[in-house]
Parts: sequence; structure tokens; C-alpha cells
Amino acid sequence: MAEAKPNQADRARAPRRKAAAHARPDAVAANGHAIAAGGNESVPIERYLRERAAIVDRALASAVAESDAPARRLFEAMRYSLLAGGKRLRPVLALAACEAVGGSLEAAMGFACAIEMIHTYSLIHDDLPCMDDDDLRRGRPTNHRIYGEAIATLAGDALLTDAFWMLAKSTATPVHLSAAALIATVGELAEAAGSAGMVAGQAIDLLGEGRTMTVEELEYLHRRKTGALFIAAVRGGARLGGASERQIKALEEYAQALGLAFQVIDDILDVEASTEQMGKRTGKDAAHGKNTYPALIGLDKSWELARDLERRAHRALDEFDDRADPLRALASFTVERRL
Ligand code: IPE
Ligand code: IPE
Ligand code: MG
Ligand code: MG
Ligand code: MG
Repeated sequence: MAEAKPNQADRARAPRRKAAAHARPDAVAANGHAIAAGGNESVPIERYLRERAAIVDRALASAVAESDAPARRLFEAMRYSLLAGGKRLRPVLALAACEAVGGSLEAAMGFACAIEMIHTYSLIHDDLPCMDDDDLRRGRPTNHRIYGEAIATLAGDALLTDAFWMLAKSTATPVHLSAAALIATVGELAEAAGSAGMVAGQAIDLLGEGRTMTVEELEYLHRRKTGALFIAAVRGGARLGGASERQIKALEEYAQALGLAFQVIDDILDVEASTEQMGKRTGKDAAHGKNTYPALIGLDKSWELARDLERRAHRALDEFDDRADPLRALASFTVERRL
């Protein structure tokens, strides 16, 4: 089977270029998240995210169903964290990347769920006493506080493994993608989640506690700990939507900038935001001797960096038409968010 062709409509549509590429959000509310992408056609990001998150939530609820099997407590623990809300930014980005190149929501839905399952597993493990030792996540007690460390660890293991099961099932009847493209998508997701990506970042984060890193080391850490999954989400979503290699490359640049911006802002919010706003304890990075952007370069420079990365994310979309407006708005949301 041949590699997917870029959607024909791509060529017919004019790229947005400067129109919305460097637009600023029209409005930002601390808890309302009313952000528009700017330009003529604005994307009300608050409503967009809410609606997309609801679609993802429904798919996740059936991906990890309730069970009365002997291991039902495991399923309960998996669902406890998976269905606890969360911004759903990674799956929404995967779906938006798919649509930006002319793909359908359905084409990337299984993949989007897989990404969120992997992300949720990473949060459960991140909160364990042997890691960041947190007691609050997504506005509720952390998984191990309810289910104990053993079941919490296993719930994370199961979410990670079932993510790939889910992905395999959802791509079992490919309509337009080659086997090679599907395998590349699975491989990239595994690479991003494992010892070359997120897990490596988590290890470097923990091993670096109490030792001041250089800015280069910190960027290396953040690109793995957080950035890798964002890149996988966007690249995978785009590929499943039938993107060309050129489109995937441009979207990777977008995701690289957005992914780093996301963790810079997470570091900033740990200093500036309240526990109530975030649904997780703030002010803990300094207490744990974590290497963060505010700790290394200060808050002002961290904000500057985040804004620069937001601009870079927008620039990477210059060649895309208005179907990439949600991606533009999501980059701004990533920087403007207060949750
Ligand atoms: C938190 O991610 C963990 C980091 C990578 C900083 P999110 O802020 O996306 O968490 P949820 O999914 O919205 O809870
Ligand atoms: C964790 O980073 C990133 C993950 C891979 C889960 P943090 O430790 O900063 O995430 P929060 O602040 O606890 O959400
Ligand atoms: Mg951590
Ligand atoms: Mg943490
Ligand atoms: Mg953090």
C-alpha cells in the first residue's frame, strides 16, 4: 500500500500565513480561558477545548470500561485517574493536527485516547511517594492515596500497556494508511513515552534534584519529560489524517515549541498559581530542589521564553490554512492558561 497522499484540498486552500500566524489571544480569563486565535476567524478556545475534551472523555470511558472481574479494583483505579478531568490537551492536539491536514476526527480518536492513557499513567507514577510524593491531582486525592501504592503502580502499568492495545485495535482496519505509516506511528509513540523520551526525562528530573543544572541540561530534560509526548501527539495525529512528510515536519516544529512552552508554563504556575486553580499542589518544585526555568533564569525570563516559543509555534504553521486555527489557538492557550 502506498504512503498516504496529502489531502487534495490542502493545495486548493490558501495558507493563512501572516493572517493569524502571529495573532495574540483576544481575551484571557483566569478561569474562563476565553481565548481566541485572533485574525478574522477566531477560535473560541474555551468552548473548543470543552467540547473536544467531552468527546475524548466519552471515548476514554469506553476504552477502559468498568469491570466486575476479579481485578475490578485495578479497573477502578485506572478509571479514577483517567476520568478525573484534566485538560486533555495532548489528545485534543492530536485530533486538531489530524483535522488541520484534512483528516477526520475518527481517524485519530484511538490514537488520541492512547496518548491520554499514557499521559495519565505518567501522572499516577509522577505522584508516587518515591517520585514527587504528591497528594492532590486533577482536584482529587492522588491515585495511591486512594488505592495504595501497589495498585496505583499497577494502574499506571496497565494504562501504558493498554494504550498500545487500544491503538492496535483502533488501527486494525486502516482505510488510507500504509502498514509502514501505522507502524511508524506506534513506534514514535513508544519512543516518546519510553527511555528515549518521557521516562528518560522523569529520571533526569529526579536524579537532578538538589543539583543546579545548566539551562542546556534543563532544556534537554524538559524536551524529554514533557515535549516528547506533545510531538508524538501532533505527528501521529497528522499522519493518521493523511499528512505529507513536509506537513508532518512543520507540525513537529510547532509541537516542539509548544511542548517546551507547556513545561516552562507548568514551572511558572508552580510558583505563581494556587493549588485551587491548578487542582494540584503548587510551590513544591522549590521545596524539592527541582530544576525549573523560574529557578534557573527567573520568572521574567521564563515568561519571555514562553512567549517566544508561542510565536515560534505560530510561525511553524505559516503554510497551513484556517483548518490549523485550532492549533494556533491551542498554542496560545498553552501559554495563557492558568490551570
Ligand atoms: C501535567 O500535565 C504534567 C506535566 C507534563 C507538566 P497537564 O497540565 O496536561 O495535566 P492534566 O492532564 O491537565 O491534568
Ligand atoms: C511531570 O512533570 C511530567 C510528567 C511526565 C508526568 P511535573 O512533575 O512538573 O508535573 P506536575 O507539576 O506534577 O503535574
Ligand atoms: Mg515530576
Ligand atoms: Mg510532579
Ligand atoms: Mg510541575
